[in-house]
Amino acid sequence: MSAERKINGVIYFSETRSNGFEEIYLSLRKAESRVYDDDTVKHLPEVPPCHRYYYEWLVRKRSMKTLLKYLLKNEYIKEILEIGCGNGWLAANISLKTKRNVTGLDVNITELEQAARVFGNRENLTFAYGDVYMLDKKYDMIILPSVIAYFEDLQGLIKKLLGNLNANGEIHIIDSPFFDDKLSAKEKTFKYFKEMGFEEMAGQYFHHSLNDLKGFNQEVKYDPTTFIHKANRAFDRSTPPFYWVVLRK
Ligand SMILES: C[S@@+](CC[C@H](N)C(=O)[O-])C[C@H]1O[C@@H](n2cnc3c(N)ncnc32)[C@H](O)[C@@H]1O
Repeated sequence: MSAERKINGVIYFSETRSNGFEEIYLSLRKAESRVYDDDTVKHLPEVPPCHRYYYEWLVRKRSMKTLLKYLLKNEYIKEILEIGCGNGWLAANISLKTKRNVTGLDVNITELEQAARVFGNRENLTFAYGDVYMLDKKYDMIILPSVIAYFEDLQGLIKKLLGNLNANGEIHIIDSPFFDDKLSAKEKTFKYFKEMGFEEMAGQYFHHSLNDLKGFNQEVKYDPTTFIHKANRAFDRSTPPFYWVVLRK
C-alpha cells in the first residue's frame, strides 16, 4: 500500500473508494439501534441488562475472553489485525489486555473515527481505513469477527489473507454465522432487509457455509452444533452459537 495519511486519528492504508456501502450499512445499523454513542462504545462488551442486545453482548464477551486466553497462551503472536473492526471495541480490548500490537481495519470511516476518538491514544493500537485486497503488511494473527458476511468471495478473501501472515500466522474466524442451507438463509435475510426498508443491503451481505473452507488448512476450535454446546445454550444464552475456525498456511 502507498504512503499513509492520518485524518481524525485514522490511518489510510489505501485511497477511499465509495461504493455507497458505508451509508447504507450505517443507516441499517441505526435502524437496528446498533450504532452506539461514545460512552457505550468505551465500555463494550459490557452493557447493562436492560440493553436491547444484552444477550448478544454476553456472547461477544465470552468469545472475546476465549480469544484473550488463547493470546495469553500464545506469546509469539505479537502483531494482530482485526478486519472489520467497526467501532473498535474488540481491537481496543485486545490491545489493552494483551499488550500486543493491534490494528483495526475497516472501510467504514464513521465508526473508524469513533474508534480513534474513543480508544485511539494507545501506542499499541491503530485504526486504519483500507482495502483488504491491497493490504501488504504481515501479521501473526488476523481476526475476522462478525465480518465474513460482507465479503462475497470467502475463499478469495482467505487466500489473500493467508499471504498476509507471518510464518506460523493464523486467521481466526469468530462470531460469524455459517449456513448449511445458504439458499434459505439468503431468502430469510432478504425478507428481513425488505421489512427493515433496506432491500439494497441484500447485495452487500453474503452467506457462507463451513464447506466453503474445505481445502484450506483449518481447525474448528469450537463447534456450536455439538450436543453439549446446544444443551448449554438452551440454559445459558451467553453460550456462543458461532463456530471458531482457525486457518493456517
Ligand atoms: C457487523 S460489523 C462487526 C464489527 C466488529 N468486528 C464486531 O465484531 O463487533 C461488520 C464490520 O465490517 C466492516 N466491513 C464490511 N466490509 C468490509 C471490507 N470490505 N473491509 C473491511 N471492513 C468491512 C463494516 O464496515 C463493519 O464495521
